[in-house]
Amino acid sequence: MQVATTIEEIRQCVSQARAAGRKVGLVPTMGALHVGHVSLMEAAAARCECVVVSLFVNPTQFGPNEDFDNYPKPFEADVAICERHGVEAVFAPSAAEMYPRENLTWVNVERITEPLCGRSRPIHFRGVTTVCTKLFNIVRPDVAVFGQKDAQQAIVIRRMAADLNMPLEIVVSPTVRESDGLAVSSRNRYLDPQQRRDATALYRSLETCRESIRRGATNVAEIRGQMLDILHAVPGLEVEYVSFVDGESLADLERIQGRVLIAVAARLGPARLIDNILVDTTTL
Ligand code: PAJ
Repeated sequence: MQVATTIEEIRQCVSQARAAGRKVGLVPTMGALHVGHVSLMEAAAARCECVVVSLFVNPTQFGPNEDFDNYPKPFEADVAICERHGVEAVFAPSAAEMYPRENLTWVNVERITEPLCGRSRPIHFRGVTTVCTKLFNIVRPDVAVFGQKDAQQAIVIRRMAADLNMPLEIVVSPTVRESDGLAVSSRNRYLDPQQRRDATALYRSLETCRESIRRGATNVAEIRGQMLDILHAVPGLEVEYVSFVDGESLADLERIQGRVLIAVAARLGPARLIDNILVDTTTL
């Protein structure tokens, strides 16, 4: 496995694979790899002979009071995980390699970046779409794999690739969970044991919601009320949003109909946690 730190190195490595007629799959990450990331590598390997993983804690997607400085960077362990899972090349550039000068060019997806996480993280998605565009231009993958865990990010990236005719396929892979339902996340390591137990409230509220919809509930205000009861029962958990939106336009819904994204964000001690489910009423 090659570990490339420069754009030239990764381009060379990928161009060899491409010249040999192999499909290239990219898994963009910020490192601190866990089983959720590994599932994306496996999804990429199922579609492509050459899997590239990027490890880059992208400064432009963090707001001033966010965890950029504390974001974990277990580089050696990350490289070992990639190696164990058949990754052909890791791209781990420095910030200076990715942003060698003041960045004046941004990719900005409108409207769908405003609700949900966009409300508390106003520059976040601009940073994500810009760095992903750069990674796509550097690696030129046939396929890029993202996780359903960050539902809004996946929807925004899909829309960006479609609007800008980017020549690649975007694949969205299911959320990997711990045995108690908590969505696996690099940020779970910020939680102490009590907070870690309490963090399952997000998943429990989403499962209650799924069950209510399965039983025929369609009134969003009512279902949201049940979810808030579960979340508010946890001392110290501050709910940021419990949103019911259309799975593509992210427009707010009052009734459950069609493909509905139900997304939750909450602060618990030092961590900001997000989780979501997609419910398709046409296949219930
Ligand atoms: P990061 O948080 O490292 O996540 C990298 C990818 O792993 C994302 O597509 C995310 O949705 C996916 N992922 C995280 N936890 C997951 C889980 N439990 N199950 C399935 N997939 C999971 O998201 C980012 O990095 C950055 O914004 C990035 C896209 C790399 C741009 O900087």
